[in-house]
Amino acid sequence: MSPETIPAAETFSPIRWDHGLKLLDQTRLPSEEVWLDCATPEDVAAAIYRLSVRGAPAIGVSAAYGLVVGLETKRDDQTLDERFEEVAEFLGATRPTAVNLRWAIDKGREIFAASVGDGDEGRIAALLEWAKRVHREDIESCRRIGAFGAELFRANDRVLTHCNTGALATGGYGTALGVIQSSFDQGKISHVWVDETRPLLQGARLTAWELGRLGIPYKLVTDSSVGSLMSRGLVERVVLGADRIAANGDTANKIGTYTVAVMANRHGVPFYVAAPLSTIDPATPTGNEIPIEERSGDEVTDVFGAIIAPENAPAANFAFDVTPHELVTAIITDVGVLEPPFTEAIALALASQKS
Ligand code: MRU
Repeated sequence: MSPETIPAAETFSPIRWDHGLKLLDQTRLPSEEVWLDCATPEDVAAAIYRLSVRGAPAIGVSAAYGLVVGLETKRDDQTLDERFEEVAEFLGATRPTAVNLRWAIDKGREIFAASVGDGDEGRIAALLEWAKRVHREDIESCRRIGAFGAELFRANDRVLTHCNTGALATGGYGTALGVIQSSFDQGKISHVWVDETRPLLQGARLTAWELGRLGIPYKLVTDSSVGSLMSRGLVERVVLGADRIAANGDTANKIGTYTVAVMANRHGVPFYVAAPLSTIDPATPTGNEIPIEERSGDEVTDVFGAIIAPENAPAANFAFDVTPHELVTAIITDVGVLEPPFTEAIALALASQKS
């Protein structure tokens, strides 16, 4: 089926606009499904920071709506333009690695600037219409990624994934998990190995929840199982997501991704990164320039309420790592599968978007 033919409306989304912004609180999954009402841009920023909404594309979509919430709550002592910049600044400071956040804010600024002359109500309406489009187009992008990615899979592959890249991490459908879903629907995947993804357990809590709902067979494994699984010949492919892809293909993604890539390389297992073009940052030449978010050590020592280390144990918590492009077999995007040399393939793909 051509990816364009699937309507976005059929897809589950963790983000809703219903006379205001509502976000599915992912910190409460899988035990509870709680929707947060985000009445102020501070609510949106807090939800992004504490990972109630997470995953690079979902952060971008939420930020787009967050700008609208910001304009709707303008104070009397400021202009709409001043309010836009105030909100753009604190939303933009919530998470440094996922480039979709900056992408959404920069695009939103362009739309907002173009609406000058429409009056305050008209400008807010224009921004809301754009945010809804970003949301819809993100789902459509994911569908295309899924369809392009499925072409790389063979019958009955056992695939390993890391973190959560499903509907929960996007506007809907998912990137790497979209590839898994689309390949499974075509009979190409027999089973998914799901890394639990320490410390916040996006694999155990979220990917397992999504695969269960989709009826796709999976087994949860500890992050340190990857070497053993591959050396025993139990993994045919890896597919996972990205928070930012540099112009040369170096890829920042959830901590632990680099370890998976090294293991895949060692064992000759294809290692695919699935992401929309909005995750590629041409302004970042290589992975060395990607800012890596460092979060509180408490997330390492305190696992959802259970303290697992001595009191005051110092802990480092780098949220992401960078996989060098040499370890990436292909990047599955919404405009097609990019293969090495990535610098050229990425430049061409981005240029095709502009033309
Ligand atoms: O800290 P998170 O949960 O936001 O990290 C998410 C990831 O690392 C994902 O793999 C990435 O954002 C891609 S989501 C489609």
